[in-house]
Amino acid sequence: MPRSLGADEPAVQYSDVSYSYPDGTSALDGITLTLPKHALIGVIGPNGAGKSSLAKLTINLFDKYRGSIKLLGRELRQYTTQQIADTVSFITQNPKEMFITGIVREEAELLPKTRGSSNPRKKALEALHKAGLDDLANSSVDTLSGGQSRMLTLASTVFVSDSKIIILDEPEYGIDLGIQETLLNYISQLRAEGKTVIILTHNLDMTLLCDYIVLMAEGKIIKMGHPSEIYEDQAMLQRYSLDQPQLYSIFREAWKHHSYIKNIDVLLHYLLAALQSSPDDGYES
Ligand SMILES: Nc1ncnc2c1ncn2[C@@H]1O[C@H](COP(=O)(O)OP(=O)(O)OP(=O)(O)O)[C@@H](O)[C@H]1O
Ligand SMILES: [Mg+2]
Repeated sequence: MPRSLGADEPAVQYSDVSYSYPDGTSALDGITLTLPKHALIGVIGPNGAGKSSLAKLTINLFDKYRGSIKLLGRELRQYTTQQIADTVSFITQNPKEMFITGIVREEAELLPKTRGSSNPRKKALEALHKAGLDDLANSSVDTLSGGQSRMLTLASTVFVSDSKIIILDEPEYGIDLGIQETLLNYISQLRAEGKTVIILTHNLDMTLLCDYIVLMAEGKIIKMGHPSEIYEDQAMLQRYSLDQPQLYSIFREAWKHHSYIKNIDVLLHYLLAALQSSPDDGYES
């Protein structure tokens, strides 16, 4: 590889990418998009917009696409399967389709083993601990709830690898608020470490923490911008059946002073200020 590759290149660069499934369904139609490195990026849009298809193309799951996809400056088609797996961690929308071994701990050991870790079991147990799954280490993956399955996908990929690019397809789906908070903290930590984290989601409040948001619809990119540029455009949101996130007004205050909200404490400050400045408690007497 030439020395400069990956140095100042974007994390992912799509140029005129189109893809249709074997049954003829068009999923992506002329996608041109640059995702910068070291950023948290939210991808939103209605059902069927093409979000998951775009993510799957990015890990080369489908090879019959048109156009060019570059990962860290290098054409995806030139990567080996192993190189892609080392570069990108991907969590699919349907956790159960990811499991291979049948046992929770073995699932988390797979990646450390293939990477030649000296102590895969230790790595796996640490990842399971982070995911809150210690007690289920010896259970069958079939016995996990939806949220526990979701956490196991994280434990067996992101928590045990050091990929530069992490793609999470609806990571919040099926997990309760406590675990969502753990997840959000973890995502913020990954960003702070300089990773590129791409979240595909219907949870618009979650995207307020992003550096950029990409709005997709009907296989196309409608707009990419800072969350304020996306959520200020009410007409555009309405066109794609999206509402402003519930926490938008609090973030709007905070963005006047911080272009990116690094931690929840900053947000709490604005939340408290917003509460204190409300004229009454909102209830009729
Ligand atoms: N395996 C498949 N075979 C045929 N068509 C598919 C397949 N998977 C997805 N599609 C179609 O491709 C288009 C894009 O779907 P995709 O799953 O990428 O959307 P999405 O934005 O992820 O939607 P959601 O928010 O519901 O997850 C849709 O028209 C969908 O019906
Ligand atoms: Mg999807």
